[in-house]
Amino acid sequence: MVDLAPVICVDGPSGSGKGTLAQAIASRLGWHILDSGSLYRIVGLQAHLLGISVDDDDALEQVVKSFEIRFATERSPILFVNGSDVTEAIRGEEATRFASLVAKREKVRAALLVRQKEFRKLPGLVADGRDMGTVVFPDAKLKIYLDASPEERARRRYVELKDKGPNVSLPDLFQSLKERDVRDKTRSFSPLKVAPDAYVLDSTGLSIDEVLEKALVAAQGKGLLITN
Ligand code: C5P
Repeated sequence: MVDLAPVICVDGPSGSGKGTLAQAIASRLGWHILDSGSLYRIVGLQAHLLGISVDDDDALEQVVKSFEIRFATERSPILFVNGSDVTEAIRGEEATRFASLVAKREKVRAALLVRQKEFRKLPGLVADGRDMGTVVFPDAKLKIYLDASPEERARRRYVELKDKGPNVSLPDLFQSLKERDVRDKTRSFSPLKVAPDAYVLDSTGLSIDEVLEKALVAAQGKGLLITN
């Protein structure tokens, strides 16, 4: 039997710091990375730009099957879709809202499942999202469920966005984050939930270095090689 590349999953709600932690683990181990939320954001953005209704499953499935995705380099998060740089565009509020709407559709999730598995390559993959450990990579060597209080998550997003534009309001961000939490946790297909074998890490009040340290200890506990 062919040995599959090992996977570390980082799942959790919006703004818990999954992306930052996943990047840090991947660069420490020299592994590949999958930011699965960016795939949902690409589909949401394309649906929005092409005027596709978020319940037109066949058209959305075509979007998932047709886009070409390319990262500028493994280390750089610059993301090209069909030749255009969408790095900034997929982070906007519209793409964010549409992403969580298309993420509810079973056909979208099924088509993206195939594309996500393609990221699994040696020497290993760090995958972050909502259902990495529960659905996409159930055999992952380590599953981290990264959480933080809604207040802290909204505050982090506020700090991230406030330099980019004047129209950022903390109460609005808090409200839309709570709505996304409800959508992510209550949808019928692949809802956000803690995998039974997950290590639950609450990052409220912790620095990224402290969170990384805890994650690396957990990785070591699973026998994953850590090089300093
Ligand atoms: O993680 P990020 O905020 O970029 O994800 C954007 C949206 O994509 C989320 O609101 C969530 O609804 C959806 N998503 C998902 N499953 C994943 C990753 C993201 O449903 N594995």
